Amino acid sequence: MNILNFKDTELVHLINTNKYDEGLFKTADGIRRENYGTDVYIRGLIEFTNYCKNNCYYCGIRAANTNAVRYRLTKEEILSCCEEGYALGFRTFVLQGGEDPYFTDDAVCDIVSSIREKYPDCAITLSIGEKSRDSYKAYFSAGANRYLLRHETADASHYSNLHPENMSSINRKRCLYDLKDIGYQVGSGFMVGSPFQTTENLVADLRFLQELSPDMIGIGPYITHKQTPFAEHKSGTLELTLRMIAILRILFPYALLPATTALGSIHPQGRELGLKAGANVVMPNLSPVRVRKLYDLYENKICTGDEAAECRMCLEKRVLSAGYQIVTHRGDVKR
Ligand code: SAM
Ligand code: FES
Repeated sequence: MNILNFKDTELVHLINTNKYDEGLFKTADGIRRENYGTDVYIRGLIEFTNYCKNNCYYCGIRAANTNAVRYRLTKEEILSCCEEGYALGFRTFVLQGGEDPYFTDDAVCDIVSSIREKYPDCAITLSIGEKSRDSYKAYFSAGANRYLLRHETADASHYSNLHPENMSSINRKRCLYDLKDIGYQVGSGFMVGSPFQTTENLVADLRFLQELSPDMIGIGPYITHKQTPFAEHKSGTLELTLRMIAILRILFPYALLPATTALGSIHPQGRELGLKAGANVVMPNLSPVRVRKLYDLYENKICTGDEAAECRMCLEKRVLSAGYQIVTHRGDVKR
């Protein structure tokens, strides 16, 4: 199968095939094995703030959700998450949070450079939203190597259905190109089954990703959160998410594709199935248990009660049961 040369209409057909497509997953798994064998890379996720100045219509930690109980981790708490993670074999730390103005560029740089100094052998990934090019440059100089920023949807009008007027697809894409240009390893991605999403929107997402050529592509189902304007919209499905993972693997043989927490949240075996469909990364949580439930992007999020070590063990077993194994190096992309 060579979908690299597929026309848009053929991609539409592939996306719409409404069945659990064992053949598609086998093709994708074969390509992942050619490039990454059975290795699964791990990233330690530290959700360090759930304050956010934005109001994405789908997100549980949006500023207007006054029911959200807010928290921030201190620099010391973040460093102790890294210490625990390092002992558990993590060599990548992902600092993710809402767009929280409390963490000024100086504060971010201070945290990044402290982690860099203590863990020179580790990759530091930031996922803190849309910033200026100068801010991205400053974080890079402080020692950050990777940045995750999903483009969410490549279609400008779909983007405006998901976000208020002060946010734009143009700026989101500008950020991604700035990040690449500065030298970050970049991750992008989108939600599957987000409100108003059409198959054509998904094709546009694939085409945009082909143009951007990111190192990582994170996708997961959209999951409803009752305290958002999208409370009445249905969540995305397991089937379509798995199909999109497989298509991504075929289109991007080299890419790092996470089996996401959202995928594990809509089905008990979601992450294992994601791995079998072509994913090769998992991102267990290193945040302190007391804040886990508060990083409440969507309903029924898994892994909110377990200590970091328990999460690590649980994933180890799940990955093995799917026929792969966790490796503990930095897990850089193979291009
Ligand atoms: N603020 C940063 C940003 O915007 O990139 C990082 C945090 S943001 C909460 C991380 C990702 O969560 C978003 O890119 C979005 O795709 C995902 N997300 C938010 N709400 C979601 C929902 N209801 N269902 C599934 N994923 C969701
Ligand atoms: Fe925080 Fe979307 S609500 S970035």
